[in-house]
Amino acid sequence: MTEAIKLIIDTDPGQDDAAAILMAHGLAKRGLIDFVAITTVAGNVGLADVTTNARMLCDWVEQPTFPVYAGAAKPMIRPLVTAANVHGEHGLDGAVRHEPQTPLQPIHAVAYLVDILRRAAPQSMTLCAIGPLTNIAQAVSLAPDCVQGIKEIVLMGGCYFEAGNITPAAEFNFYVDPHAAAVVLACGAPITIVPLDVSHKACVTAARMNGLRQTGTQNGRRLADILQSYERHDIQQFGLEGGPLHDPCAVACAVFPDMFHGRSCAVAVELQGSLTLGASVVDWQGKSNLPVNARWITEVDADRLFDELRLSILHLP
Ligand code: BDR
Ligand code: CA
Repeated sequence: MTEAIKLIIDTDPGQDDAAAILMAHGLAKRGLIDFVAITTVAGNVGLADVTTNARMLCDWVEQPTFPVYAGAAKPMIRPLVTAANVHGEHGLDGAVRHEPQTPLQPIHAVAYLVDILRRAAPQSMTLCAIGPLTNIAQAVSLAPDCVQGIKEIVLMGGCYFEAGNITPAAEFNFYVDPHAAAVVLACGAPITIVPLDVSHKACVTAARMNGLRQTGTQNGRRLADILQSYERHDIQQFGLEGGPLHDPCAVACAVFPDMFHGRSCAVAVELQGSLTLGASVVDWQGKSNLPVNARWITEVDADRLFDELRLSILHLP
């Protein structure tokens, strides 16, 4: 039997982040991953709220000793831009908030990442990055040798065949910290990118939402409530059939790579453009001489993704 992949989620919960985190807890219960830790980063809302949300989610799945580390409170260079208009003032509209029992670890997320990746067996840890890339960029900048411990970075960010969702050209995670995205893309670790090009093909339909509700679990109902509140923005703004599950796509891609298709190519982030800041430039046709640095995902088996999400939720309280 192959060893379960060791997974750290770097995240800014966020409603679709919540779906990704619940899915990861369920995957761990199924023995498909060794879910090691959550590190938080400012993004969808500020650091205090996203960190509280991550801890609340661990309470929900009755894992009050699960390690949660708080990371960067702002992007590397730019001021923080949030998406509270999408996810709600505290980032988790649709959920009942409470003061979490799961403690906050007393170490900064960047220090934690440097330490665990330095001590890890070579190429043994998968980082699933579903927020702005500030923490990971700082870890690989402070300690480039820590890249040795990374098996793969699977990140949700960018867009190329789809329009941007925060500006006409840019996807939210890359736009919020484009400098961090550039650092991570150049860090030398194997990288898989799950952009809007694929996550817009994984929308929550009424049937899929009912599937979660009908798991008969408290977390299935909680997740359906969150996703019900989340979808209105994307339906109104982008004409999608439901809320796109951006971040669960990244977790699924790390665990079930055969569910996805893409192409290895050179990927860069625009850092100069006045209209295109944070846009991803993808050499899909191999027109540049730039080195291939990532696998860019464009296709997903969405029915299978939702089956795996539902199955994972079924393993939760
Ligand atoms: C990304 O931006 C955030 O709002 C979501 O959580 C997701 O990570 C999609 O562009
Ligand atoms: Ca996110």
